[in-house]
Amino acid sequence: MATRESNEQAGGTGRRALLGAAVLGASGTVLGLGGTARADGTRHGGGRGLKGLPVPTIIGHRGASGYRPEHTLGSYQLALDMGADVVEAGDLVPTKDGHLVCRHEPEIGGTTDVADHPEFAGRRTTKTLDGASVTGWFTEDFTLAELKRLRAVERIPANRPHNTLYNGRWEIPTFEEVLRWQDEQTRKRGKQVWIYPETKHPTYFRNLGLGLEERVAAILRKHGKHRRNSPVILQSFEPTGIQRLRGLVDNPLVVLLSGANSRPWDFVESGDPRTVADLVTPEGLKEIASYAQGIGPTLDLVIPRDAGGRLTRPTTLVRDAHRAGLILHPYTLRNENPFLPADFREGTGPDAYGDVFGAYRTYFATGIDGVFTDHPDTGLLAREDFVND
Ligand code: G3P
Ligand code: CA
Repeated sequence: MATRESNEQAGGTGRRALLGAAVLGASGTVLGLGGTARADGTRHGGGRGLKGLPVPTIIGHRGASGYRPEHTLGSYQLALDMGADVVEAGDLVPTKDGHLVCRHEPEIGGTTDVADHPEFAGRRTTKTLDGASVTGWFTEDFTLAELKRLRAVERIPANRPHNTLYNGRWEIPTFEEVLRWQDEQTRKRGKQVWIYPETKHPTYFRNLGLGLEERVAAILRKHGKHRRNSPVILQSFEPTGIQRLRGLVDNPLVVLLSGANSRPWDFVESGDPRTVADLVTPEGLKEIASYAQGIGPTLDLVIPRDAGGRLTRPTTLVRDAHRAGLILHPYTLRNENPFLPADFREGTGPDAYGDVFGAYRTYFATGIDGVFTDHPDTGLLAREDFVND
């Protein structure tokens, strides 16, 4: 139940939970007990790099994708303008000629106007991606110059009808363009801009001869952003991809975790029988902590939902991860009803907002260190409420 009572069961009031998290671990182990309070009530570890970020950290998921077509410079820019602490720029996939571009998946029919380009009609095909059959157009079949002729469109217009206003406005950014944008924005704002790129489907692309990790590392090195305190956090659903990155760069690394019964695709291909349920045991978390700084679990691993979509009791994941020295940045909070736990849905219609502040209160109270959100402005207000509660 997502009630005040259950919030308190989950860890007390916002401020108590925040301080509790600091004592328990990530904010203790990773950020350090010497963390100090900011004027806005958030805490930080008082250090450089990851330790300097406010906690709970508000991460703009695919930019401010609740308001703009995802993974565009328009979406990233709005996330920054809203005040996001970190921008997920971007999910990275390669082109045929080896460039890294920002798309959530290789198939681009759902997020670009490729279907409106008759010259690319013959590229539509069906492939097997991580065991699933997918039909559409794939970045690895296009050169960068060809992809640059496309324009981004809203992925979920039924939930986000207003975002279609911006269909056709922005092109697909490259990772290099993102790094230059990061530098420009840092200069303009006089404040370090942080990004949180994700390598998508590393095993799939490696099998195609388009390994992601070496490309990411080479670009980060070229821009001098491969160090422990560089403002770039790297994430992936494939643990071996994160381990590969560990050997190439010193950036903070985060292992993403899907549903408890799922298996990372690199495990499937290598015959490693472990599931996510195995990775979130104390032993599994200890192993992750040997090469990564954090985990990015689906929110359901923090508080599972019942068959009706309502929240149940928090798991021990926050405590266990903190004890292993890992921070937690779960995904993804969105304002629209269909994405919220049933406890917080209000009104009807696929684009209607629910009681998302109630959802934030409940998740923040578990002691998480931050959250990915499509609506960074809402997340920042929720954090303000939480730290001042
Ligand atoms: O990267 C955190 C979160 O974005 C993982 O989910 O599928 O939106 O990339 P996804
Ligand atoms: Ca992502």
